[in-house]
Amino acid sequence: AATPRVFSGIQPTADSFHLGNYLGALRQWVALQETHEAFYCVVDLHAITVEHDPAALRRRTRVSAAQLLAMGLDQDRSTLFVQSHVPEHTELAWVLGCITGFGEAGRMTQFKDKAAKQGTAGASVGLFTYPILQAADILLYTPEPRAGAVLQVPVGEDQRQHLELTRDLAGRFNHRFGTTFVAPEAYIPENAAKITDLQEPGAKMSKSASSPQGIIDVLEEPGPMRKKIMRAVTDTGTEVRYDEEGKAGVTNLMRIYAALDGTSYGDIEKRYEGAGYGQFKKDLAALVVDTFEPIRERTRELLADEDALDRLLAQGAERAGAVARRNMEIVRERVGF
Ligand code: ADP
Ligand code: NA
Repeated sequence: AATPRVFSGIQPTADSFHLGNYLGALRQWVALQETHEAFYCVVDLHAITVEHDPAALRRRTRVSAAQLLAMGLDQDRSTLFVQSHVPEHTELAWVLGCITGFGEAGRMTQFKDKAAKQGTAGASVGLFTYPILQAADILLYTPEPRAGAVLQVPVGEDQRQHLELTRDLAGRFNHRFGTTFVAPEAYIPENAAKITDLQEPGAKMSKSASSPQGIIDVLEEPGPMRKKIMRAVTDTGTEVRYDEEGKAGVTNLMRIYAALDGTSYGDIEKRYEGAGYGQFKKDLAALVVDTFEPIRERTRELLADEDALDRLLAQGAERAGAVARRNMEIVRERVGF
């Protein structure tokens, strides 16, 4: 069988990715290079659906790409590129938009959530059609629609509805214009951990919602990283025990520990029996620092030579663009251009 393809994207909306991004998504991107033909995209077009600062966007696009490379993405084993460098994304989005129902688009709950935050009347049309651009991002990298061809997309809960829309649009296009797209399927990585806020164990660690004390940035200095973990909210008990309801804080820290160290929850419990939270947190802080320190160093090196980084990204855009142009040519012909 052919090597399965995978597509994933991430927005350049912060000056650093955070621990949740790393354990919930980006670490899996690196692993998938070995088993998949992978296309990874820094989705800067998505980042302008809300008000943005051009200089910050340009900086964050480079910083995001540099971090991904520093985490182990490798242009020889996968294709990493910036969305706006491949103009076919917007062209396919237009075509797909024309086969999307207005009501259908209106049912996207993420738009409703995001728009509600800023007052729906003030939300941009771009934010409304965001899921259609996302569908284009994915379908542009469709393999040839032969038996056994696979296109996978790693998705969290919040993206499920958008992937469903993408599947519907692929099916609709195929039905109207002839089989063109492989319907993408959700890829649920086995070891993807959902990480919660260090100060509010009920909420997800998030760049937009977490306070500085609740979030750990990949590019943060070791000092503050350690401090935040030592001060993470636990409970009045002393036992390091996995209990999502009763001990949400400790359980979140155990999830991070298990994800970084490969130790099972049972073995972590045994290891810290009678030791209390202090020792556990100290060891966890060391694990986090040791994981991110080389990534921070490498990111700094990559950013020090902007031309070399831009050349790497141009290489990715060229490779992605070749696939995108080939698929877009078929779409254009089928649609009647
Ligand atoms: P986007 O708007 O691009 O989804 P996010 O920062 O919300 O930006 O998410 C980027 C990726 O990181 C997504 O795959 C998401 O599922 C993952 N992610 C974000 N926060 C967490 C978290 N706290 N735990 C696990 N995964 C997370
Ligand atoms: Na993703």
